[in-house]
Amino acid sequence: MNTYIGIDLGTSAVKLVLMRADGSIEKIVSRDYPIEFPKPGWSQQNPEDWYNRTMEGLKELLSDCDRSRVKGISFGGQMHGLVILDEQDQVIRPALLWNDGRTFEECDFLNEEIGKKRLSGYTGNISFTGFTAPKVLWIYNKEPENFARIKKVMLPKDYIAYRMSGVHCTDASDASGMLLFDVKNRCWSREMLEICHLKEEQMAKVYESYEYVGTLLPQVAVELGLSEQVKVAAGAGDNAAAAVGTGTVGEGACNISLGTSGTIFISAGDFKVDEYNALHAFAHADGRYHLMGCMLSAASCNKWWMEDILKTQDFAAEQAPITPKRLGENHVYFLPYLMGERSPHNDPKARGTFVGMTMDNTREDMTQAVLEGVAYALRDSLEVARKLGISITKTRICGGGAKSTLWKAMIANIMNLQVEVLAAEEGPGLGGAMLAAVACGEYASVKEAADRIVRVKEVVDPDPVLVAKYEKHYQIFQKIYPALAGVYQLMS
Ligand code: XUL
Repeated sequence: MNTYIGIDLGTSAVKLVLMRADGSIEKIVSRDYPIEFPKPGWSQQNPEDWYNRTMEGLKELLSDCDRSRVKGISFGGQMHGLVILDEQDQVIRPALLWNDGRTFEECDFLNEEIGKKRLSGYTGNISFTGFTAPKVLWIYNKEPENFARIKKVMLPKDYIAYRMSGVHCTDASDASGMLLFDVKNRCWSREMLEICHLKEEQMAKVYESYEYVGTLLPQVAVELGLSEQVKVAAGAGDNAAAAVGTGTVGEGACNISLGTSGTIFISAGDFKVDEYNALHAFAHADGRYHLMGCMLSAASCNKWWMEDILKTQDFAAEQAPITPKRLGENHVYFLPYLMGERSPHNDPKARGTFVGMTMDNTREDMTQAVLEGVAYALRDSLEVARKLGISITKTRICGGGAKSTLWKAMIANIMNLQVEVLAAEEGPGLGGAMLAAVACGEYASVKEAADRIVRVKEVVDPDPVLVAKYEKHYQIFQKIYPALAGVYQLMS
């Protein structure tokens, strides 16, 4: 049976999935890489690390399989990151990542001086610090010598595709997050390129996620022991790829990803824009569209709380004392804004905050508050969608945080959603492999691949009693950020 490789280029690691044509997973390999936080709110990575770890991981992935069966490779990649190459194809500086908040002045310039209305008209979105356009302006303003050297602008996964295939490509879903792309018409926005001092020849050719852009470069094929005929498909931003991997395609389907970021992804047949632009209006990997709310720190809040504060690696042991009877009873709240916040507040200056402790509070209450705080914050984005008249009653779930039974119960009850847990949890990696399979003609469409491959393993239903208890807590949670927003400004 033919096999396909999905490369999930994440923030903490690259995960590689070898999928058989029938959608079953043959092998998974992961390789970590470092992330630098040179100043509070800044985050960057070295694209060379991404490529080297990806190649290392691929060699392990392929070490004991029949390489002649591999027909295609594709991607789900961390979105919005800015990779810039010079004339000699060398990376000019470390990539600024999706959760980097250094661009707040450029972001204000775009939203206030160019104006949200114009931005939304050109692209379907307004500016958030993590988007690519304010990063380009930051380089223009703060590092003009680097700006002058830019020959090619690309997104993280597209750098890997470029190194593997030699094609300067991107896809519509990932391009959507640049604020340089006219999402509705799926083409570069001439106005936005001009505002950001860019020329179209510096930008990649845009494909649909399920189209192939080329084949492996001879030296890459030799290094991996693969045929030069192996196709490289454009792939998708990690959230759109995760949506493919969880079968979130078609009108009104929902997926929650609990990774470093936390996202709520709502697929749509037609292009829709939230009038306040609190949700992103992006292209989907199935050729259609989606709305998405993105919080900058989700599972990363729990990781920070466990590893950096409690100094433990045993997440399950910390969650074990949080028994079902404690759900809905916690009076400690945690605002998960450790990297500022994107959706829906758009406030790079917001900070992580515990509220409501009393002398009787325990370690468990604090751990519970961290997990609940992420679920409350995701609910903030869900409420924006509900106000748009979108009715969502169930969601799929993926990402590292989705392994926790406790967290899934909190999501179900805080958001009042039925949570469908899938047989394969490898959202973006599996989605990437599925896109490669579609590009190679194994499936006629992304929808067909999703219908045939994705299987629900278990359903977590909301409990009306807990939903009512959590509703009262959410009403309080909702009031904390507005009360503190001015304080965060003073603190910055
Ligand atoms: C989405 C976003 C994050 C990254 C994480 O807009 O910024 O989900 O894609 O990898």
